Amino acid sequence: MDRLAGLAMTQKPQTVADRISAILREAIVGGALPGGTVLRQDELAARFGFSRMPVRDALRQLETEGLVTIHPTKGASVALMDGKEIREIYAVRELLEIEALRLSCPKLTEGNLRDAAEILDQIDAEADVARWGTLNAAFHSALYSRCGNDRLLVLIDAHHNAADRYVRMLLSSFDYHGRSQTEHRDLLAACRSRDAEKAAAILRSHLRDGSETLVHAVQEQEISREA
Ligand code: NI
Repeated sequence: MDRLAGLAMTQKPQTVADRISAILREAIVGGALPGGTVLRQDELAARFGFSRMPVRDALRQLETEGLVTIHPTKGASVALMDGKEIREIYAVRELLEIEALRLSCPKLTEGNLRDAAEILDQIDAEADVARWGTLNAAFHSALYSRCGNDRLLVLIDAHHNAADRYVRMLLSSFDYHGRSQTEHRDLLAACRSRDAEKAAAILRSHLRDGSETLVHAVQEQEISREA
């Protein structure tokens, strides 16, 4: 892959496809377009007043984010949230992340704690909801960074990625964001006082709260689809 590709990606001006995907993303994570809603290219093109090509590009973009499913014959639809998948990912996250936190907590440096605190301030200041998922992952990673087991960190990263679309929905569509930041600050305070057991307990309830909020949202989604 071209070494400059990543750079070009972050510098590129907003295209029509970007604007369409931003509108659709907001509607999907905000619940205006529930899971299973069929997204017809020609209908969307007519509604937005654009040609079909940028609409198709926007749908492909949302597919890579896990928000849209593209079926070879049936076309695009809003991805369904999967309660079983959510429970499995969060159960594994709990095992991995609590272990990493227990190992890392006593060894965290002032620099690590400062980085984590700065990320929380960035989350408070960040108006772009789409960035919260990345910042949330960065905050958690900062606290696990001294666990001394690179394989554990790789597994944690993989499960963060698997949970990404759910975390994004969680952070943007439910009254969850404020609660999550309070839990993050309690977690950081426990790490700062080197209380690994207290930190582990806060992390466990933080992850369970996230998982339960999502599973509840899936149930609501199923009820609204059956109605
Ligand atoms: Ni979090």
